[in-house]
Amino acid sequence: MSFSTLNLVVLISGRGSNLQAILEAIAQQTLHARISLVISNNPAAVGLDRARKAGVAVAVVDHRHYATRMDFENALQIAIDAQAPDLIVLAGFMRVLGADFVRYYRGRLVNIHPSLLPAYPGLNTHARALAAGEKEHGATVHFVTPEVDGGPIIAQARVPVLPDDTVERLAQRVLHAEHVLLPHVLEDFAQGRVRYPSDAP
Ligand code: GRF
Repeated sequence: MSFSTLNLVVLISGRGSNLQAILEAIAQQTLHARISLVISNNPAAVGLDRARKAGVAVAVVDHRHYATRMDFENALQIAIDAQAPDLIVLAGFMRVLGADFVRYYRGRLVNIHPSLLPAYPGLNTHARALAAGEKEHGATVHFVTPEVDGGPIIAQARVPVLPDDTVERLAQRVLHAEHVLLPHVLEDFAQGRVRYPSDAP
């Protein structure tokens, strides 16, 4: 299936620099997509301002206002489904999503993670890669399955780890690579070049 204009909903929790990269790629017409809604669980997320500046609709679904994770995820689902998106992009969304939610969006939910998965799932990836003496690090865009950071890999960007690297320098290099990788992968979706593996959960 290919989409003339891919309809995206983007979920964020903070800085939103990957969201910015998507917005810029759309503006430059290297990504044939539109963002119908940006949703943040964090009302103070800087990324919300980035969306507003670009004229994109925003919604806050604050997890702290819901008694259970299921209530929170139901509210998220209602907000997402109102846009009938082709793809939901987790771009620095810092809540773990439950299995029912993830299965409901099977094949339509993607995440960007700052490591070369399956290496370093979870948090503090740059510090862990540095401590382990890795020569190479990077970022991964993958389909989301109930296993956190464990779904089918769509694409990766590799960066070298340099001898004098600090966590900050390495993080910066990986982030720069993310900003190229994510819009690129989304354009692959727009062009119908990405398929959910039939044997994936
Ligand atoms: C990125 O490193 C992304 O890989 C991870 O969270 C970070 C989000 O950064 N999931 P930003 O909010 O896009 O600037």
